[in-house]
Amino acid sequence: MNHSTHPEKITIFDTTLRDGEQSPGASMNLDEKLRIAEILEEMGVDVIEAGFPVASNGDFEAVNEVSKLIKSSIVCGLARSGRGDIQRAAEALKPSPRNRIHTFISTSPLHMKYKLQMEPDEVYEAVIESVTYARNFTDDVEWSPEDGSRSEPDFLCRCVEAAINAGATTINIPDTVGYAVPDEFGALIAMLVDRVPNSDKAVYSTHCHNDLGLAVANSLAGVNNGARQIECTINGLGERAGNAALEEIIMSLRTRQDRLPFVTNIDTKYITKASKLVSTITGFSVQPNKAIVGANAFAHESGIHQDGMLKHAQTYEIMTPESIGLTQSKLVMGKHSGRHAFRVKLKELGYELGENAVQEAFLRFKDLADKKKEVYDEDLVALVDDEVLRANDVIKFKSLMVVCGSKGPQTAELEMDVDGKIRKIKAEGDGPVDATFNAIKELIPHDAKLQLYQVNAVTEGTDAQAEVTVRLEEDGKSVNGQGADTDTLVASARAYVNALNKLMVKRERTAPGALSA
Ligand code: KIV
Ligand code: ZN
Repeated sequence: MNHSTHPEKITIFDTTLRDGEQSPGASMNLDEKLRIAEILEEMGVDVIEAGFPVASNGDFEAVNEVSKLIKSSIVCGLARSGRGDIQRAAEALKPSPRNRIHTFISTSPLHMKYKLQMEPDEVYEAVIESVTYARNFTDDVEWSPEDGSRSEPDFLCRCVEAAINAGATTINIPDTVGYAVPDEFGALIAMLVDRVPNSDKAVYSTHCHNDLGLAVANSLAGVNNGARQIECTINGLGERAGNAALEEIIMSLRTRQDRLPFVTNIDTKYITKASKLVSTITGFSVQPNKAIVGANAFAHESGIHQDGMLKHAQTYEIMTPESIGLTQSKLVMGKHSGRHAFRVKLKELGYELGENAVQEAFLRFKDLADKKKEVYDEDLVALVDDEVLRANDVIKFKSLMVVCGSKGPQTAELEMDVDGKIRKIKAEGDGPVDATFNAIKELIPHDAKLQLYQVNAVTEGTDAQAEVTVRLEEDGKSVNGQGADTDTLVASARAYVNALNKLMVKRERTAPGALSA
């Protein structure tokens, strides 16, 4: 085939909501998962892996709700090889107009012997049994040999052939522990395409982990050797060092058409928005020098580079910031802007809010415009996200007065609305953040441990809004709370209170009849 006239399509399979959520601390609640699923669909992701339905009631509900919401992308649920897993996945996926069951079992000698304690022949039978069973629920079945890259080639070929014969339409090859190097992983895909007799009846896929920092390179090597689906996550989120980063894959394919003559369905202009949403929700901030979405990815600091850029942008720029939806910070509006202009601006930024939410956000915008000389798009996004995130909170932050400085004692006077009742408290602490959090703990006693306290500035300048993430952990389960305000301590209190609200919801959801993974 002549690639230059008919570039082949690569299916983009996003697993931010499944493998991404397996990163310790990156748990997301239902609303957050739905917001991420929505943006993945908007950006053109072909397959959204929404979770592992048998793992917990929360996972089941998430896959089920994503299945109701998403119309154009395929929604996928993960299942081990047992019938119970597959049934649960099928049940969760029922509302989706286009769904896929992804079933897997380990095929490497190490995993079969120590993890599964199964003989290869038993694993082989389980492959056939699981794929055949999954096909009763959908025509779209994906099968993965976990630890595929460390499996014996002959056995792997046998299992892949059997999975395709049983009805698998996608064969996904995971480099589960991120051990492969690019020429080796590419050769593995080429070997399968070549040796498995019914290869033409399925699409090969890559699923590479980033333990050696090679996940993207391995995925691209896979594509160059016959794979036509890539599994990836926003910001490279995922177990341990993460998965192949969607934004790096997409921008490599787009920027290097000469070496990678493939097309995808992705509208790259959504990349920045998706990256910000995932990092805000998970509390996993993006390192400044991260490819594509890091804060410095398009910053040119050295004089020589700046001079070159002024003469001709392509001297140092291989892709434009606009191509990933990164626009110059725009001045939004000032304190004289009216409600109508505010509503129009929210729409432009992609928010469809109800009348009450617009009203609340507008009041906060006015307040912000009073405090801050210049209000940018980013400020508005932080403010509205803050409002949206706490829409269902039953404990609400009201006000905070803090005394701090070198003389001490540092104190916090806090006012909160707890179930409709206003409650006030004054507490001391080792510094203003500690005093604020102690005040919250005195009003709402709890045993959750603080795992993360993180502050980011939304824009530049000393009057910038602070965006705070607080991660709380209780009984092995963690939640992330967010808060934004020009006052870092108010943002901190909002974030802590948001996390507590989420913890309460999590307790309710997981208490009765939770399933084990
Ligand atoms: O990394 C892995 O092997 C997986 C499988 C479940 C596909 O995530
Ligand atoms: Zn994985």
